[in-house]
Amino acid sequence: MKTLEWEDNKLKLIDQTKLPDELTYIYCETYQEVIVAIKDMIVRGAPAIGVSAAYGLALADLSGEDMEKAAKEMRAARPTAVNLMWAVDRVMASDDILEEAHKMAEEDMAMCRAIGKYGAELIDYGDTVLTHCNAGALACVDYGTALGVFRAAHDEGKNINVLCDETRPRGQGARLSVWEMQQENIPVKLIPDVASGYLMSIGKVDKVVIGADRVAYDGIANKIGSLMVALAAKRYGIPFYVAAPTSTFDDQISIFDTEIEERSADEVTHYGSCRICPEGTEVINPAFDIVPCDLISGVITEKGVFLLNNEWEDFKYFLEKE
Ligand code: MRU
Repeated sequence: MKTLEWEDNKLKLIDQTKLPDELTYIYCETYQEVIVAIKDMIVRGAPAIGVSAAYGLALADLSGEDMEKAAKEMRAARPTAVNLMWAVDRVMASDDILEEAHKMAEEDMAMCRAIGKYGAELIDYGDTVLTHCNAGALACVDYGTALGVFRAAHDEGKNINVLCDETRPRGQGARLSVWEMQQENIPVKLIPDVASGYLMSIGKVDKVVIGADRVAYDGIANKIGSLMVALAAKRYGIPFYVAAPTSTFDDQISIFDTEIEERSADEVTHYGSCRICPEGTEVINPAFDIVPCDLISGVITEKGVFLLNNEWEDFKYFLEKE
């Protein structure tokens, strides 16, 4: 099962808005349809957004669109995950956009496997590991970053237990991460977002592993709520790891300059179609937050595990993206 695939000159995507109830697919035939799929979170997660954007531009190329215009619109689909801008720049600089998109999809799968391998070395036998949002196969082409670490540790017989934050308001933890772990019989429990601090305080969490939408020298951006998890982990001395491929790295900015996407109010005022607050309630709905580097125990990449800030310069070669 792949999150996205090129089939008959179309981009085939799992419709993640329908999970876990239905495993259905949509087919994008134009780049504009790919942009809508990214905006509406039919496809979501930083690496999946990046590779989808690459295929979206391949669709634009095949139908003879104005490529500069298509690239500009694609870049603007969602602002926070740097993989999107990275993918657009990369295919636009290539000679054959479709070929480059295929290459990126292959690389993404290989990077996730490598992240899994390095990350599993950090997991001890019997660990209870907590994650936030969905940094799984559904957020990539396949396998996943944070959930790739759990897959690898499980496959190595480490007997892990996974705790998934529900991840309000979109419920990526409850709907997607729990579903992914269940597909492979990896022991998993769902917890309310507000429970992670308490569970850490009573020794029920051994390690935290999350994904990232952007990694810079001074911290990472990830799903809203990551910062609270990181603060609680620091308070209780629990290792807090970020699993991310180098396609998520940004050496151009301080992480604090990342544009944080603000999403619509109805994501917060409603559970599905059910309103949960008085009509007309004003809302603040940032989709991501920033975890500064002093709260991060290590970044697990396809090239190994390293610390932000002090080791950033040594790992600069990571950023040489093809
Ligand atoms: O809004 P989303 O669902 O696209 O947010 C996804 C995340 O925050 C993931 O943790 C991140 O993209 C890493 S995915 C490997």
